[in-house]
Amino acid sequence: MSRFVLAFFSLAFGLAAIAMGAPTVGKLQWNGPAVPGQPNVTLVGTDVADIYKQILHINPNFIGNPLPANDSFNTFVQSTPPPYQCGNDLSLATANQGSVFTLVGDINRIGGTWNLGANSYNRLLCRDSSGIYWDNYNSKAASASAADVYARAIAIVGGCCLQTPNTVSGLSSFPDNHPTASYSDILIGQANCNDPAATLPFNYGYPGPNGVCVPS
Ligand SMILES: *[C@@H]1O[C@H](CO)[C@@H](O)[C@H](O)[C@H]1NC(C)=O
Ligand SMILES: *[C@@H]1O[C@H](CO)[C@@H](O)[C@H](O)[C@H]1NC(C)=O
Repeated sequence: MSRFVLAFFSLAFGLAAIAMGAPTVGKLQWNGPAVPGQPNVTLVGTDVADIYKQILHINPNFIGNPLPANDSFNTFVQSTPPPYQCGNDLSLATANQGSVFTLVGDINRIGGTWNLGANSYNRLLCRDSSGIYWDNYNSKAASASAADVYARAIAIVGGCCLQTPNTVSGLSSFPDNHPTASYSDILIGQANCNDPAATLPFNYGYPGPNGVCVPS
């Protein structure tokens, strides 16, 4: 179920839904290999950049955990119906596509397994006015591999705003039956990297300074 659908749900169920509370900013937990051949480490940080810094502190020679490309990745990105919704449908203020490409590469580089607490969101990566967010509106913690986050981010970048190649915004939900990340979404859209991550791209006016997102 997308956040968009959830918004209607909240309206319909009024006070009960409000009592559940909207997600708030949460820390990101990372588990993975910081040193090749050594046991995994668990790190907690404000975002991926913070965790990357902690990894470099443990291993200054960290070269990353690049994800192997595989067929199920391509199948997912090209699946029907598309595994994403684009920004104009959701009033998601847009990001700059070039910045987002760089950020997507960082997801691939750090690898590992990512965890986010119940009812919380995290601005995973940020560059200039562009962000990749993970919004968990489930009442239990979410866990996803970097590969799963990467696949969703790539699906949005590859499928949204192709007629306006400098912008991108969109959302890709984990399926309701996902074993560890149900009721959570990967979002791409506007960010203000100089400010703390209190604002989601829904809350900036659409389209925002980067311009409109017209789906292909
Ligand atoms: C293949 O890619 C998908 C999507 O990125 C990912 O969920 C899965 O873990 C990958 N499988 C392998 C064996 O790398
Ligand atoms: C170490 O982390 C990798 C990446 O998240 C994961 O695939 C692997 O299962 C982990 N190994 C152990 C022993 O937990």
